[in-house]
Amino acid sequence: MPAPTAPTAPQPEILAAFEAAKGFMPVDEGLALYAAAAEAAALGLPLVEVGTYCGRSTILLADAARAAGVVAVTVDHHRGSEEQQPGWEYHDPAVVDPEVGRMDTLPTFRRTLHAAGLEEHVLALVGRSPQAAAVWQAPVGLVFIDGGHTDEHATADYEGWAPHLAPNGLLVIHDVFADPADGGQAPYRVYRRALESGAFTEISAHRSLHVLRRTGPGI
Ligand SMILES: C[S@@+](CC[C@H](N)C(=O)[O-])C[C@H]1O[C@@H](n2cnc3c(N)ncnc32)[C@H](O)[C@@H]1O
Repeated sequence: MPAPTAPTAPQPEILAAFEAAKGFMPVDEGLALYAAAAEAAALGLPLVEVGTYCGRSTILLADAARAAGVVAVTVDHHRGSEEQQPGWEYHDPAVVDPEVGRMDTLPTFRRTLHAAGLEEHVLALVGRSPQAAAVWQAPVGLVFIDGGHTDEHATADYEGWAPHLAPNGLLVIHDVFADPADGGQAPYRVYRRALESGAFTEISAHRSLHVLRRTGPGI
């Protein structure tokens, strides 16, 4: 029996939970992510996110997963990316664990999911993305890359998770900027690499959020 399909836009209460959550994704890109997640969830396979932070984008993947009867998997070590560390542009002192003296976004993430009523639909992997990808064994319907934005991290996320994408699965990459004046280039280089591999075909783009379909083998 085919998997139930999710609506292509979130219900108002899910959108409200998304907007209330701490995080970096603007609403318009969130709606594009939701539409991709709803489409991919119809494959009946897990949806994977790299870069949970406080769960803002996870809410959207989790709701699309819930509607289709699949699970959203989200990976993060919860210690923050380079640009989120103290002294950097995206640092938020409210997510520092005072006892440890380092960032810890896991408690906020758990509160976010609880408030949205979506805990049951999410498998949270706490650790480094390449290690999680290396032990992951199942095909997935969607890979959303929004983790570390250095070449080292973005490349490792692509090389680790893209091979798990099932035929017709969707690869979604955030913060893709063709012009260096608009932002860092690592996600853009991964996006270019995916297209040039011949394994992916772009199906949509909304500002910096690009959606590619797996249309061939390899990465
Ligand atoms: C840009 S934030 C994610 C934002 C989130 N998707 C949202 O919409 O609010 C990037 C996250 O990736 C995580 N991260 C960076 N490098 C990582 C790695 N190698 N493994 C696991 N998580 C990583 C950071 O801890 C951070 O929480």
